Amino acid sequence: MSHFAWLQGGDARCTDSSPSPRRAWRLVLLGPPGIGKGTQAAALVAQLGACHLSTGEVFRHAREDAAGLLAAMRRGELVSDEAVIELVRERAHCLTCSRGFLLDGYPRTLEQARSLDALLADLNVDLDAVVHFQAQERVLLERLAGRRVCMACGAAFHLEHRPPSRAGRCDLCGNLLSQREDDDADAVRIRLRTYAATMAPVLDHYRGLGLLYEIDAAAPSEVVLARTLVALDPLARWRRV
Ligand code: AP5
Repeated sequence: MSHFAWLQGGDARCTDSSPSPRRAWRLVLLGPPGIGKGTQAAALVAQLGACHLSTGEVFRHAREDAAGLLAAMRRGELVSDEAVIELVRERAHCLTCSRGFLLDGYPRTLEQARSLDALLADLNVDLDAVVHFQAQERVLLERLAGRRVCMACGAAFHLEHRPPSRAGRCDLCGNLLSQREDDDADAVRIRLRTYAATMAPVLDHYRGLGLLYEIDAAAPSEVVLARTLVALDPLARWRRV
């Protein structure tokens, strides 16, 4: 579940009163559409206790008066850097949370990455790692085609890999499941093309900073989670010293 204050915006205050984890993890999760970033974020939240902050989810909750932004999303295009950077800046207090954070789907352009660097430097916060999930395009297409989401609580299911216990209903809140508007074939084509065109400089940027961890995500989600935790384990040991 996403962080309440992150979804609501700058004036909202976090209502999560669960105890802070022993270590605050500050991670960025990157990867193409449908790779499983949201799925892994939910599992990592359970393991690490950090807050899940998804820019895509914030935009899906945007009010209908943000018409230009929502139209770009439905077409499968990126929202402008300006809008994304403003959205993150107005939620900067979430980045200093004692629980840590998992940024999902942000940054997606080099300009966003540089803006995040500057914001974290201002806040005196260091990133621990940038996890990049990878798989072949056919895997992404199959995951996107079978995805069904709950528009009420945001939970994601898959017709084959993670079917809901009651057909068409969310296991968590009981609301109806549907396909995301940007999961139609035309929008998916644009999203994959956009990802390929914008991500390489972002990955180079984090590789250069020594923060990038590459994870093969063409496996069941429990295996992907285990691979991620193994990759992060040396960092966890180092942080315990
Ligand atoms: P966003 O919501 O971030 O979409 P995305 O990056 O395209 O990623 P998805 O949410 O589609 O997939 P996912 O990787 O989270 O996969 P999931 O876990 O659901 O962004 C949407 C839009 O918002 C963008 O197109 C853009 O317009 C805008 N936007 C957002 N951030 C922006 C930014 N920073 N800059 C500009 N614009 C921005 O899994 C997919 C399916 O596969 C599910 O059904 C799941 O159950 C299944 N699954 C997951 N893992 C596995 C597995 N290991 N094995 C089998 N099935 C699996």
